[in-house]
Amino acid sequence: MTAHPNLILSGMQPTNTLHLGNYLGALKNWVKLQDEMPCLYCVVDMHAITQDTGYRHPKELAAATREVTAAYIAAGVDPGRSILFNQSQVPEHAELAWIFNCVGRLGWLDRMTQFKEKTGKHKERASVGLYTYPLLMAADILVYKATHVPVGEDQRQHLELSRDIAQKFNSDYDLPDFFPLPEPVIVGTGTRVMSLRDGTKKMSKSDESDYSRINLTDDVDTIAQKIRKARTDPNPLPENGKGFEGRPEAENLVNIYAALSDTSRGDVLAKFGGRQFSEFKNELAELAVAKLTPIAAEMRRLLTDPAEIDRILANGAERARGIAAPIMTEVKQVIGFVG
Ligand code: AMP
Ligand code: TRP
Repeated sequence: MTAHPNLILSGMQPTNTLHLGNYLGALKNWVKLQDEMPCLYCVVDMHAITQDTGYRHPKELAAATREVTAAYIAAGVDPGRSILFNQSQVPEHAELAWIFNCVGRLGWLDRMTQFKEKTGKHKERASVGLYTYPLLMAADILVYKATHVPVGEDQRQHLELSRDIAQKFNSDYDLPDFFPLPEPVIVGTGTRVMSLRDGTKKMSKSDESDYSRINLTDDVDTIAQKIRKARTDPNPLPENGKGFEGRPEAENLVNIYAALSDTSRGDVLAKFGGRQFSEFKNELAELAVAKLTPIAAEMRRLLTDPAEIDRILANGAERARGIAAPIMTEVKQVIGFVG
């Protein structure tokens, strides 16, 4: 139907350190997708100032932007092949976001569960930016006419909103193919990694307990200790998936093992079914250390040369603008802005 060439765009916020959920739910997938289509990977620093965690600490925000960039590269994003940049260096994102502020409807934003989760009972104290955050996200994607967006399961609703925006713009201006309707790319068992302390809660950087997550920068001992202390129940591993009923922590650890080893849950249970968690945790710790510590080491190496990271981001931003600027010119013509 649409003539839009395949193009990937995704991004993460530079707030706190990245964790295993970010890696298995998003980053690992980004790396693979580089073999399939052209990719743009963005550090969304403008999203980071929608909440106090990213706001008010200029040095911290800059450091976090460089750290997330280093994590992308260390995990395997190749800045030669893919376009790697930070959002604030490409002003077209903000420009299109304003227009989308006028396309999006209050009713659509009112349905966003992440906003409700993030603000809890104190909606009136949230920034307006946090409320319109999904519209900036839609602009991130559509300013390149990107067709595919690899994210974790929790971003599905925001992506649906991006599709609604594209569709409404296209129909308002009677240009059915102007923007593509971007598709989520959500794969595999790793897409929702849960807290190590509570298998019903998502692993999250905002959890106050550091034992709830494995950070990409954790050292060998910390990873091993967090896995050893991860909550489980006294029963051995089940023989098959049905045995996870009512055992979210057990299920989460097995999912993590499957995702880290690129196998299925069935394979993991075929190997470990009936064995004790203490034994399984040792193997899981070994696997996590083997997969994650090389990434941490590479991140540390890259961060010794922040000027080089800044050069990579500036180069990526220039290439990104090369795509975004002509699309923005087209958008302005469509709307009727003179100039
Ligand atoms: P965030 O850390 O919320 O900015 O998310 C950055 C990316 O990581 C998004 O694509 C999320 O969907 C993904 N992500 C964050 N937490 C998890 C998790 N616990 N499990 C799977 N994916 C996650
Ligand atoms: N909202 C996303 C998250 O919290 C981050 C994000 C911003 C994003 N812009 C994007 C993801 C564009 C994909 C595409 O994870």
